[in-house]
Amino acid sequence: MEHNAPWWKNALIYQIYPRSFQDSDGDGVGDLNGIVQRLDYLADLGVDAIWLCPVYRSPQDDNGYDISDYCDIDPVFGTLADMERLIREAGQRGIRIIMDLVLNHSSDEHPWFIEAKKSRENPYHGFYIWRDGVPDAPPNDMKACFGGSAWTWVPELRQYYFHQFSVKQPDLNWDNSAVRQQIYGAINFWIKKGVGGFRLDVIDQIAKEPDLKITNNGPRLHEFIQELSRETFQKGDLITVGEAWGADIDRAKLYSKPDGSEFSMVFQFEHMMLDQEPGKEKWDFCPLPFVKLKKCLEKWQKELHGCGWNSLFWDNHDLPRIVSRWGNDREYRVESAKMLATVLHGMEGTPYVYQGEELGMTNVRFDSIEQYQDIEIRNMYRERLEKGYAEKDIMESIYAKGRDNARTPMQWDDTENAGFTTGAPWLGVNPNYTEINARSQLQDENSVFHYYKKLIHLRKENSIFVDGDFTLLLPEDENIFAYVREYEGRKLLVAANFTDKEVECPLLKEWGVPADEDGAAKSRDNGVKLLIHNYNNLPSQQKLRPYEAMIWEKAETGTEI
Ligand code: GLC
Repeated sequence: MEHNAPWWKNALIYQIYPRSFQDSDGDGVGDLNGIVQRLDYLADLGVDAIWLCPVYRSPQDDNGYDISDYCDIDPVFGTLADMERLIREAGQRGIRIIMDLVLNHSSDEHPWFIEAKKSRENPYHGFYIWRDGVPDAPPNDMKACFGGSAWTWVPELRQYYFHQFSVKQPDLNWDNSAVRQQIYGAINFWIKKGVGGFRLDVIDQIAKEPDLKITNNGPRLHEFIQELSRETFQKGDLITVGEAWGADIDRAKLYSKPDGSEFSMVFQFEHMMLDQEPGKEKWDFCPLPFVKLKKCLEKWQKELHGCGWNSLFWDNHDLPRIVSRWGNDREYRVESAKMLATVLHGMEGTPYVYQGEELGMTNVRFDSIEQYQDIEIRNMYRERLEKGYAEKDIMESIYAKGRDNARTPMQWDDTENAGFTTGAPWLGVNPNYTEINARSQLQDENSVFHYYKKLIHLRKENSIFVDGDFTLLLPEDENIFAYVREYEGRKLLVAANFTDKEVECPLLKEWGVPADEDGAAKSRDNGVKLLIHNYNNLPSQQKLRPYEAMIWEKAETGTEI
């Protein structure tokens, strides 16, 4: 790269959900040694850093997002020595490990909470948030994210404790400086072990003010984050990413300020919430308002340019699979998976690939609620049944939005359990693994895997993806997502058909993409060059085929491309 941007602006981050990635010991749960076995696959894809979902000691009420020891590894994933080996082996392949820090809450089985519950005088009592009261009359009507009240009664203390997530995830009290110091100690422990960075779970919720019913963006939020960053991350060349569901542009600029006073980048969700009925829950979905999606992404592209940094993602462990959500996971699975990748990776920001996305893995439809493991799904199912929803409708919500869609085991090959485990997998394998799996895609140069690999390398070789301006084209068009990136005389056109129909596209002609005598455009030596394309033959000059996507490059007259 000929510019001075920090390394992580041009990096590819691959997210691993360890439970579901690779099991090495046959207990049906993925583990650290399993990840080591697959490092060459990741290096081949072009991965620079792995975001590892939590592997700390945990009762696994929320699959590790409920930590009972911040400085140890849960036996289900391995040992501290296995973690050290993973960091070392990944490092040898140029891959850094980004750990997931869950600092808003701990597990109720953390020694701090066990102590805190013993008495009001206990030194750890003030590590959590308590309110006096009487049974069955919580301090207010705040709800927990996974259902029920955000307050749980502890009879021994005659007090309620506050939890924004499950009852087993009590919120830590960040106003208490002793809590903050303990947390910094744990982070510095991992920095010394050589981890390459951190993802900060629901970081916008740490400064909650339950009496005022404030969850995210509390008054002391940025003060806390700046102190956290000074005491830990700023000591090394670390990549940090703040998960913030409640971020607007102004907050995002603070989170990702180029002076590094908070994090490297923000991970915000505005674009991922557009197919939810306004004011309702995520389970109440509506068709994607496509024009809104484009405008939303355009806003983030333009407003952070030069003064902040965004994460680019469609998928993670909390979201359904993008090819099922906004693509077509049936006859156009391959085309639409590639199209979605093209649109995303063409933008400014650091791209994230969630395990299996690079294979075009899809959502799953299990027949019965018993086959689902996620606490959020199970609680919602129970609550909605009690409220009188039809079971069929609840299941449809799960099929569309449930987190287990993203958590089915990684599909490595077409052997039993997709090569994920020799035991019984903790969550069922998606039955389409015989068709969709890594082994077959590695052998097929037209696969989704090879397309991702090409796209990832393209970004690394062309700094325009990092530095270029962004201009949305055809903003009101209901079918086409197109934009231009521009930097020092170079221009890229990203054009994509978001539908399963052939659609008119005036841009190719305008861009001077040449047509041969059959009416097909050819990439000839007239200043335009085709960089990547998800169909094998050239496009017509006027139309884009179902889910067709491509990136063209154009240089100013006289400039070599
Ligand atoms: C974040 C995590 C999610 C977890 C929640 C509580 O949103 O991504 O998986 O359940 O925080 O820690």
